[in-house]
Formats: sequence, structure tokens, C-alpha cells
Amino acid sequence: MTETNKIYRMDCLEGLKRLPDSCVDLIMTDPPYLIKDTHAGGHSQLARSIQPINDCLKENDLVSGMNPLVLPELVRVMKRINCYIWCSKAQIPGYLDFFVDGLGCSFDMIVWWKTNPPPTFHNKYLSDKEYCLYFRKGGYCQPDSYEKAKTVYFQPINIYDKKDYPHPTIKPLNIIKNLIENSSRPGDLVLDPFLGSGTTAAACLELGRNYLGYEINPEYFGTAEKRILDTRAAERMIKNTQNPE
Ligand SMILES: C[S@@+](CC[C@H](N)C(=O)[O-])C[C@H]1O[C@@H](n2cnc3c(N)ncnc32)[C@H](O)[C@@H]1O
Repeated sequence: MTETNKIYRMDCLEGLKRLPDSCVDLIMTDPPYLIKDTHAGGHSQLARSIQPINDCLKENDLVSGMNPLVLPELVRVMKRINCYIWCSKAQIPGYLDFFVDGLGCSFDMIVWWKTNPPPTFHNKYLSDKEYCLYFRKGGYCQPDSYEKAKTVYFQPINIYDKKDYPHPTIKPLNIIKNLIENSSRPGDLVLDPFLGSGTTAAACLELGRNYLGYEINPEYFGTAEKRILDTRAAERMIKNTQNPE
């Protein structure tokens, strides 16, 4: 039996198979990116300038993309297709094929435009954007203000959360919270099969949503557990200040 408001240290494919059909209201996830190894022959010296960043991601097994068997499982467990997936540029065509051409979903693209990207611009453009595709078919998207309806976020790399909750690709909590708030209601169940440092779970705790997460790497799983404990403690403190006995 899978409990909610819990995270599991396991391969998400194994975890997803234990879930019943149509139990999840929203998926917010950030699977490993698909990034070419510029060590491989034929790449220019200039292209190799981004190799140190890619090496760090590779070391942590964050460049091999998503197992394609996961996608049909994600669809099976959602009540209606309502799904945000962060991805690299190379993954965009595959996700569009699956969700739009294959399943007839509508889609949108959210962009995090980094205001302080690393200066890696030899023979290439800066790596100054991250993409998040939103797919839905009957899914819910109700931003309650002009500000919350924006699709482009201009903000720097997230050094503050990264210091407390180390993960090479931690996402900004404010963006994740805004997207979850736009596409779910209080009490809904939000699933993140590639949890990392636990950003989705922390956002759910702050927003009164239920969460469920999987993380395969023991170190990141520990970070996510700590983050959940910290967030629960902070939420309790806010509640006590608002309603002193
Ligand atoms: C891009 S990171 C997610 C970062 C997260 N959004 C955050 O803000 O911290 C992807 C995570 O998926 C994990 N992962 C990779 N394959 C997995 C699998 N098969 N099952 C569960 N987790 C997996 C990696 O260890 C990594 O922490």
C-alpha cells in the first residue's frame, strides 16, 4: 500500500506500478535531462567549455533522460492529464510526440530565464533558460491573478535553497509553488516521481496539497527528507503564531 504525504527511496517505475489508476490530480516533475557528452570525439574545443557543468550532472546520473516506460505509467495514474515536466531542449520533441500527437493534449511552455547564467558562450548561446512543458487534457489551470498567469520567470539561479538543500539542479520554490497553485486545489494529490531535493513536496506542504514522491539516489532522498521536516516545522510555527493558545 502506498501512503500519501510520504516520499519513497526507490525507482519511480517500481513505485508507480504500485499505484492504482486515476489517483493523482497533478504531476509536477523534473526528470534527468538528456545531455550529449561533449567528451565524445568530434566536438570543438569551444563546445567543451561547458563540459565541467555537464560532468557534474553526469557524475550524479542526471543526463540520461527518462526511462520511456515511465510516461504511460504517469498517464495511467492521473485522473485527467494535468502534468508539468521540466526538460532540456533535446527532450521537447519527444514529449510533444507523446502527449500532443499521441494523446491529443494541449500544451504550454513555462520558461525560467536565468539572469545569472554561467558565461559559457564560446561557439554557442548561453545556457540561460530552463523549460517546463505543461500538458493537459481536462486538466485544471486557474491562475487567480495576472502575475500568476505569466509563463516566463526572470530570476537568478537558486543559490539560497541550494546551500541548505544541496542538489545540482534544484528548482526555484516560488516557480514550483505558483504552478502547483494554478493547477490544483487544496487537498489534491500532487505526484513527483523524480523528487530530487524535495522542492515539490515542500511546495505542497506550504500550499495545503497532499504529495507523493520517489527519489532513487540515497543522498538526495536524505536531503528531501530533511527539507520536508524543516518545512513542516516552519508551517507549524506559522500556524502557532497565527493562532496562539
Ligand atoms: C532533475 S533532478 C530533480 C530536481 C528537483 N526538481 C529539485 O528541485 O531538487 C532529477 C532527480 O531524479 C532522480 N532520479 C533519476 N532516476 C530516477 C528514477 N528512476 N526514480 C526515481 N528518481 C530518479 C535523480 O536522482 C534526481 O535527483
